[in-house]
Amino acid sequence: MNFEIKYKDARARLGVLKTPHGNIKTPALMPVIHPGKQTIKVEDYGAELVITNAYLIYKNEDLREIAINEGVHELINFDGPIMTDSGSFQLSEYGDVQITNKEIVKFQEKIGTDIGTSLDIPTPPSVKKERAEKELAITLERAIEALEVRQELMLNSVVQGSTYPDLRSECAEILGKMDFQVHPIGAVVPLMESYRYKELVEVVMASVSHLPDSRPRHLMGAGHPMVFALAVAMGCDLFDSAAYILYAEDDRLLMPNGTIKLENLHEMPCSCEVCTNHTPEQLRQMDKKERVQLIAQHNLLISFAEIRQIRQAIIQGNLWELVEQRCRAHPFLLEALRTLKNYSEDLEKYDPPYKKSAFFYSGPESLNRPEVYRHLMKLDRIPNKKSVLILPRSRKPYSEYLHDIPRRYYKFKGNEEIKDIPIGDVQITVVDVPFGVIPLELDQVYPLAQNESPADYDENSICMVNKVLQDYLEGFQAAFISEDVVETFQLGGKFPMDIVHEIPETLKLEVDDNQRIKMIADYQFGTGAGEALFNGDVDIVKSRKTGKIRHVYADQELIATLRASDGVFVLGREGARRLHSFLPYPKNRVVVNQDAEPFAREGKSIFAKFVINCDIDIHAKEEVLIVNEEDQLLAFGKSVLNGKEILDFNIGQAVKTRKGGF
Ligand code: GUN
Ligand code: ZN
Repeated sequence: MNFEIKYKDARARLGVLKTPHGNIKTPALMPVIHPGKQTIKVEDYGAELVITNAYLIYKNEDLREIAINEGVHELINFDGPIMTDSGSFQLSEYGDVQITNKEIVKFQEKIGTDIGTSLDIPTPPSVKKERAEKELAITLERAIEALEVRQELMLNSVVQGSTYPDLRSECAEILGKMDFQVHPIGAVVPLMESYRYKELVEVVMASVSHLPDSRPRHLMGAGHPMVFALAVAMGCDLFDSAAYILYAEDDRLLMPNGTIKLENLHEMPCSCEVCTNHTPEQLRQMDKKERVQLIAQHNLLISFAEIRQIRQAIIQGNLWELVEQRCRAHPFLLEALRTLKNYSEDLEKYDPPYKKSAFFYSGPESLNRPEVYRHLMKLDRIPNKKSVLILPRSRKPYSEYLHDIPRRYYKFKGNEEIKDIPIGDVQITVVDVPFGVIPLELDQVYPLAQNESPADYDENSICMVNKVLQDYLEGFQAAFISEDVVETFQLGGKFPMDIVHEIPETLKLEVDDNQRIKMIADYQFGTGAGEALFNGDVDIVKSRKTGKIRHVYADQELIATLRASDGVFVLGREGARRLHSFLPYPKNRVVVNQDAEPFAREGKSIFAKFVINCDIDIHAKEEVLIVNEEDQLLAFGKSVLNGKEILDFNIGQAVKTRKGGF
């Protein structure tokens, strides 16, 4: 295994790929090096690994001689990791290549490539399914053959299947079970060339969702920075760019939001050294060769800057925001972004539930983000009270500012008046965008507090809140809705509502501490967790500075600490014990083997290779219980990966242990 994940956001992974010529950070961009023709030293612009074409080397006698005698690194004058392609692209362009699969794989090993590729068949988009199936069968045969003839060579194994998601998934599933090191997603160049980004999303999602999480994926032929963020958010780790030079030869400048023709430029578009040291006119006057060099340099600089920005976004937890910005560069990218809505369930499992950055609403597409889907799902974990009072949003956290809200409401449901219902039986819930309904007890939990959206709601948001609210009200016997909410969300007419009432002064628009901690626990760990963690006498200790809940103890033993940054519980020893006895195996558990047991008990972090089972529903960054095969509690900590990833990886950390000692 050669790949390790360090940070996650959306389906993206910031990782390390190990190769014989060194480790590289992912997501990474591999500039395409033309053997024998290359004039730009790509490492000067940020390249850590490169890709070149083994078939072109093989076909040219001089190049072949050098490559065989001195190695491909010497031939293209690059010390770092080199990936080679097999000639499949030439096969798809010219219909034929003068080499067999076995020969090209052996040749790649012989010239010292770090990562080689078998001779897959790049089936174009939208061909008849029969053809896609036939060619896929050959691609798979060749992949198996490549495994048989390679010795040490790391191998790419390309996912094909044209624009048939089922074929892509099937291919990914089969290849994933074999010993390959990297999985390119192939034959997507024609989709990108014709801006068919929606289909690109379908192809990529069908592939990545069936590939092992423990191997990097390479979106083959994707060299335009416009698609990097979206592709990374879908789980792609590697890109290759011939675009930097091809576009330059055509006097076109790559930008993260599109392509610019030199002939249209009055001003240089960016702050790279090429753009700051030249005017468009100077470039136009230059001789072609010199100009191509400079534009290619700009293209590389802008492409690597985009990769760096994406890596930063993954660490910071605001990749979605970047993707939403980038996908506004072209209507078909926007369409692609909207298509991600169909993959909410999958994306939710990979997207870490807690992030360093706030959720920024950037338009109706934000309503489709996994955070929203997850919140609506987790709402079901909270037992309903008898009645509900729906209030409009205030400043956040809501519970501190609701007293400013007009206290007039409509009765929507139920026979009683609100003043006749005991205070503890009224659930106070705020409606807001993008999360729909937020029970007041959860008003400090990430991302319900850590989000921003414009106060003038758009039509999509209004429509979404309407739907969510209708579902939500189903769970209550009586419902009272603030006049503001009825107006803002145009609820009048839809609901049979009559009179306007005043909310009685006795009904305090604030939260009871005990109810708050229980609801947060239910929301975080599942229905009943609140009772299990905090039943009986507990001491709630608040911060002297902020007045917010910090710790919950039972008999001086720490049950849990409410983390100030995101308002969720970090378990203490007693909390771990209580949660362990409450949640049935394997819920919230990571099961380690006997070898790891002593280390876990000592509080050492858990490496994926020691894990023999785990709750598949664990997300990254969740509080988890570390147990042995007999389900004895050894330790507890915070997951680094999700359940599927923990099981699939056998290198790297799976859980950062907080405490052992059980
Ligand atoms: N380069 C661009 N697309 C492809 C593909 O599908 N297969 C291979 N081997 N190389 C490519
Ligand atoms: Zn520039």
